[in-house]
Amino acid sequence: MGRDQGPFNLANPWSRIGWWSTAALVGVSFALGFVVLARFQVDGPTLDVWSAICRAIGITADLGPAGEPQPPLRTPTRIAWTSDTLAQVASGNEHSGAMVALNCGACHGEGGVSPSAFIPTLAGMDAAVIYKQLDDFRSGKRLWGVMGAMATALSMQDSADLAAYFAGRADGLPPVAGEGLPRSGRSLRQSDPTIRLIFAGDPGRGVPPCAACHGPGAHKLGAPALQGQHAAYIERQLAAFAQGMRQNDINKQMRTIATQLTTDEMHALAAYYGAQDADVAPRNIAISNPWTRATPKGATVGGAYLTITNKGIEADRLIGGSSSVGKFELHQMSAPNGVTTMRPLRGGLEINPGQTVMLEPGLFHFMLLGLKRSLVEGDHVHATLEFAKAGDIDVDFAVEAIGALTPGAAD
Ligand code: HEC
Ligand code: HEC
Repeated sequence: MGRDQGPFNLANPWSRIGWWSTAALVGVSFALGFVVLARFQVDGPTLDVWSAICRAIGITADLGPAGEPQPPLRTPTRIAWTSDTLAQVASGNEHSGAMVALNCGACHGEGGVSPSAFIPTLAGMDAAVIYKQLDDFRSGKRLWGVMGAMATALSMQDSADLAAYFAGRADGLPPVAGEGLPRSGRSLRQSDPTIRLIFAGDPGRGVPPCAACHGPGAHKLGAPALQGQHAAYIERQLAAFAQGMRQNDINKQMRTIATQLTTDEMHALAAYYGAQDADVAPRNIAISNPWTRATPKGATVGGAYLTITNKGIEADRLIGGSSSVGKFELHQMSAPNGVTTMRPLRGGLEINPGQTVMLEPGLFHFMLLGLKRSLVEGDHVHATLEFAKAGDIDVDFAVEAIGALTPGAAD
């Protein structure tokens, strides 16, 4: 049965035209969508017809980006401060450590007291810190060529043994958790910006006080002692954290802080914490500005001046000193009855923790007596100072012009 009207009456030419047009439209769309457009890719080769069709309808053997190797997840360290880790650290055997430590002395110094400015002193460092840093070097989380190689050769037990050995050495870094500044010193009103950063931080920049983690006065697990560490090393590590070259700090603790510091601040912080004299073993006593004056021909006495800071947590006492150019005596000037007298200071000069004492023309100073030669401007006078606790410290006094009242007056 037929119909003489409607789309299915193929006798009607309009119907046929309609059907053909629809079919042509579908055909062209298919060709455009699945073949022509699908063949041309923005960043790839032109596909053959078959793959173009497959791709267009979503079938593909190529997994694309999903199949590419992903960079490994970046974690700062393999160490977490779990009770297992701490038990492993505590299991370290000092005596076994001493044997392995023979491999370290060439760089870190005998007993871990490093003679070199860019190599950290390990003696007295917290065992957990040594253990973690060794593992970070081993796993490549902290990069420094030779240390990486050294650490790879160690087992975890070796690390624990070494940590126990170095942590137990004296004469290196003082204990971190000692006394800090008195409360009054920990104020944001503190005038010295470096001391302010260390003991009060800078809330404006989100910088917490360094002392809260590094001491003096407090200690956070995993934070290395800085007091007595080489200043140059401290400064380099701060720069490394700031520039992202060192990334092994858990939770970016140090990177976040270091990026907030200016290079001048890094330098000042390192100078405050660090051992002053790079080729003297780190100590609590810091000496700065040692100077003396040129002497006129024939003169046999001279004065020697310097500034001493006690960065430790115990009082120390400057007892005396010696020099090859003459007798070296600690003197005190006083004027009890209006008459200025100068006499040797008996019993030495006490320097309290945190105290800075200036030995200047006037009050306290060293006298050079019985000079064997006259002192010439621009020269240096070598002397050894003797402290009750810090022991002997070598100092080079710069010879300034005759009559100079302050160091550097000659230039
Ligand atoms: C060739 C010299 C060299 C030798 C040998 C060497 N070290 Fe080091 N070590 C370094 C230097 C340099 C650094 C500081 C790297 C840096 O600047 O990041 C360092 C850093 C370290 C630190 C990190 C300390 C910190 O304050 O973060 C530890 C721990 C350490 N070494 C332990 C050892 C032990 C243990 C040995 C012996 C098994 C050893 N090192 C052998 C040169 C050496
Ligand atoms: C929240 C605690 C915290 C504060 C605050 C902090 N540090 Fe640290 N710092 C650490 C920890 C933890 C490490 C050890 C990172 C690691 O595991 O390698 C470290 C490492 C360092 C090191 C590298 C020492 C070494 O022996 O390798 C230096 C230098 C340093 N800090 C300086 C500072 C200074 C300066 C400040 C103050 C401006 C400061 N830190 C504030 C926690 C802190």
